[in-house]
Amino acid sequence: MKAVILAAGQGTRLRPITLTMPKPLVPVANKWLIAYAIDMLKGAGLTDIGIVVHSLDSSICTVLGDGKALGVSISYIVQEEQLGLAHAINLCRSFVGEGAFCVFLGDNIFYDKMRDLLMNFPESEDDACIALGEIPDPSRFGVAIIEDGRIKGVVEKPKVPPSNLAIAGVYLFRNSIFDAIGKIKPSKRGELEITDAIQVMIDEDKRVTPHKLAGWWIDAGKPDPIITANQLVLEQLPYTPPITEKSGKLFGTCDVSHRVILGENTEVHDSVIRGPVIIGDNTVIRNSYIGPYTSIGNNVVVESSEIDASIVMNNCVIRNIPGRIDRSLLADNAQVVSTERLPSTYRFVLAENTYVEV
Ligand code: G1P
Repeated sequence: MKAVILAAGQGTRLRPITLTMPKPLVPVANKWLIAYAIDMLKGAGLTDIGIVVHSLDSSICTVLGDGKALGVSISYIVQEEQLGLAHAINLCRSFVGEGAFCVFLGDNIFYDKMRDLLMNFPESEDDACIALGEIPDPSRFGVAIIEDGRIKGVVEKPKVPPSNLAIAGVYLFRNSIFDAIGKIKPSKRGELEITDAIQVMIDEDKRVTPHKLAGWWIDAGKPDPIITANQLVLEQLPYTPPITEKSGKLFGTCDVSHRVILGENTEVHDSVIRGPVIIGDNTVIRNSYIGPYTSIGNNVVVESSEIDASIVMNNCVIRNIPGRIDRSLLADNAQVVSTERLPSTYRFVLAENTYVEV
């Protein structure tokens, strides 16, 4: 079975991060968000993957290439205008051909690897199967109603949700979805909604079934859910013993707990690190505290500062910050520093939608 990953969105809810980096390349536990989708598909034997991008110039194409390095084969499908998920899926028609296929939203991340579902769908009697996550208020998602083991209705972002079952970002379809897409009109937000096409299938009495997700599921479209996803993924890091001086990475007086991963040439000087924490290559931590659920990228300097539950991407500098940095997201090359210089002032150089809390 082939799979398509939808990754053409502009990521407006994640600005300013997405001004320079597409959302699927935001790192969660130092791994691109989209790499989790690719791993899941590969784990179920789906190695022929089409990725929908807004342009072939997207850095997604540059970093993933033909997919060989990840053990899959990747083709790219261009969606120049973001006219909705159903529009994106329609563009994949010739890529998927006649068979069943999986649609994966590139900014969703799951505890449930759905291996059996992905492996068994082609042989099943279902016309479609939709992954559903049980959440207290699903009003910002598509919402499904289930009756007798089948999905009997779906509605996009209802003010009053008819159930607590949100449509999560994995859909299994057959060719019949394309006929349904041909019958829908743009929604109020001007998009061709896949939810509407699924409703057409239900109305035509097609067999549309639910897959209720086990464990957590995050639609990582905004900073807070990304930080939560980072936390949930780091929580799953397997046990590794505390790092000692023998590693050659610790200098001075350090205390580095279990479940801490330090990359190549990374040095820790006179600091405390409490896992789960992952730190990339060529990074220096000096006279600092790195607390649980923190991911730090490559070539970062953290000096005389404290940081908890955050994502710090590559080439960042954090220096002499008096309070503890918590649940923060720093994109590549960001600097957060404090100087002794007078007058003692705050200075900001902020991109659109930047958020600062002091
Ligand atoms: C889209 C779908 C929605 C689904 C959600 C999952 O919403 O339209 O049905 O629940 O993805 O992430 P969007 O992210 O476009 O608002």
